[in-house]
Amino acid sequence: NSKKDLVGKKVVISAGSTIEPIDPVRYISNYSSGKMGYALAEAAFERGASVTLVSGPTNLLATPGVKINRIKTTKELERKMNEEFKTADIAIMAAAVSDYHVAKVANNKIKKTGEKLTLELVQNPDILKGLGSVKEKQILVGFAAETNNLYENAQNKLLSKHADMIVGNDVSRKDIGFGNDDNEVTLFTLKNSPIKLPKTNKKELSHKILDVIVEKLMSKE
Ligand code: PMT
Repeated sequence: NSKKDLVGKKVVISAGSTIEPIDPVRYISNYSSGKMGYALAEAAFERGASVTLVSGPTNLLATPGVKINRIKTTKELERKMNEEFKTADIAIMAAAVSDYHVAKVANNKIKKTGEKLTLELVQNPDILKGLGSVKEKQILVGFAAETNNLYENAQNKLLSKHADMIVGNDVSRKDIGFGNDDNEVTLFTLKNSPIKLPKTNKKELSHKILDVIVEKLMSKE
């Protein structure tokens, strides 16, 4: 893709999973590999953007030239996204963010006691919603990882998080979404009917997502 339509733009992208500690050796996480966010970062970089990737643990290598900030917990992701968002033109929340953290993280490895171990989880902040509430001129793009009612859930997120676009993907399928090289998404914006992008590799899909952002959201300025 040789379009240089993001020159001069700062794009911040979150990618991968967050991890929430249980004790010094255990944590809660999810199946995000980071591929979607890293592909978006590479595509934006190719189009001339200054790209900052806020990345959970992953074994992926970022494109040289993309600035990487590594995070672990949702709290750390929130802090970094809020900081980078201030000077961003476009923010894309592709990370799979833990909705909960463990109420009391044990200082020592929890010893096996009886049959059951109960963990109390406390809700994490909704970072996307928080960014939506302080958004000024930035273009804010969120994802929706759904297993059913994709259209309804994604459109609800678009409105409730005050995002400019939601990238909806059906994560119940084995052939797309978490960990896969391919994805299939539908783009939800306020002013257009849903835009279905056919299944393809995440890099090609990233360019198509950026095409729609440039065409439908940036031209509004
Ligand atoms: O990383 P890969 O293996 O390539 O997989 C890609 C992906 C499936 C992770 C990606 O395509 C995807 O769907 N990312 C969003 C996953 C997710 O957390 O979706 P959600 O519907 O639970 O959250 C909705 C949006 O709010 C997301 O933009 C999420 O980043 C954000 N969020 C969620 C929870 C939270 N506490 N704060 C948030 O900001």
